[in-house]
Amino acid sequence: MSMLITGIGELVTCDGGTEGAVEDPLHAGLGVLRDAAVVVGGGGEDTAPVVEWIGPADRAPAADWAVDLEGRAVVPGFVDSHSHLVFAGDRSAEFAARMSGTPYDGGGIAVTVSATRAASDGELRSLLQHRVQEMRSQGTTTVEVKSGYGLTVEDEVRALRLGGEVTSEVTYLGAHVVPPERRDGSSGGRAAYLDLVCGEMLEACAPYARWVDVFCEPASPHAFDGEESRRVLEAGRAAGLGLRVHGNQLGEGPGVRLAVELGAASVDHCTYLSDADVEALAGGGTVATLLPGVEFSTRQPYPDARRLLDAGVEVAVATDCNPGTCYSSSMPLMIALAVREMGMTPAEALLAATVGGAQALRRNDIGRVVVGRRADLAVVDAPSWLHIPYRVGVPVVRALEI
Ligand code: NIG
Ligand code: FE
Repeated sequence: MSMLITGIGELVTCDGGTEGAVEDPLHAGLGVLRDAAVVVGGGGEDTAPVVEWIGPADRAPAADWAVDLEGRAVVPGFVDSHSHLVFAGDRSAEFAARMSGTPYDGGGIAVTVSATRAASDGELRSLLQHRVQEMRSQGTTTVEVKSGYGLTVEDEVRALRLGGEVTSEVTYLGAHVVPPERRDGSSGGRAAYLDLVCGEMLEACAPYARWVDVFCEPASPHAFDGEESRRVLEAGRAAGLGLRVHGNQLGEGPGVRLAVELGAASVDHCTYLSDADVEALAGGGTVATLLPGVEFSTRQPYPDARRLLDAGVEVAVATDCNPGTCYSSSMPLMIALAVREMGMTPAEALLAATVGGAQALRRNDIGRVVVGRRADLAVVDAPSWLHIPYRVGVPVVRALEI
């Protein structure tokens, strides 16, 4: 079965090499085609639909069926490369406290851990599915999902198993924080938890995950320092997992340089960066993933994306959707914040939310609209993709159901 999509007012391929693309600074690198058509084919129970043809609408080939978008813009579906969607419970009061000055230090994670442990599989699954649906309805077609609110072998495996029901980008985050029951300084405490995370828990979790992550944050008493983080990442790598790091969220620290040194795919947050961090990122193969919803929801300063881009660092933008630091599933909001608060042009922000996210997941089949790649498309209910940041807060973009 093939489908012809016509009436595309503006097709944003996010592929800089697109022939015949609009050439002006506003559209730099976006590969924008006007009055284009796309043919999508394949796609079955287990295979994703693929882009078979892209070209001018008046030269489009016939297909089994057609859809007319009546002048709307089309962009690649967003790649949300950082989220914590498997959780139960409510922390809205913590948000309210932050808005009146209480700083974030990771302590609230314990609240979500106990609510998540107490939830049944069915409850967690339905919360997770609802959040993924919420994302699709705002244009996200790929999402990475972390564990990290279980913090026992059984609860971490469960989170990863459920995550695997909605995405192939599943991340083991047993090293989110030291769980509350192990903070008493006893022999079953911090050191024993780290042994578990790098031993039995990793062994049980690795078959369900593609990535390992660690909350590397010496500024939080609950998270992990540089040496502890190195141990987690090296153990994860030895178990066959790719590396990701939560780094430099609450202050400058070792996270960014450790991520680059160990060849992590991405280091996420990057809120506080020294010149040496920026230099390391510019010279390494690690993507800096910025999560502006976190700064919005914690009243921290936004990271300076301009500084990173000007240094030649690869940048992604993601939601970090989680109950503590950012309970927003909205990539359009992150794009708007990236433009308004982090010094990115609209084109840079859209690229960071698509190809940037793909790169942060080391994927080349998503994030662009290219013949032969996955047909993950999002439709903007407007004549131009620019309405994504321009109409902030208005639901103008959704994943195209094919
Ligand atoms: O990415 N920083 C660590 N983890 C999450 C927050 C988790 C929570 O507070 O529940 C983050 O910001
Ligand atoms: Fe996170």
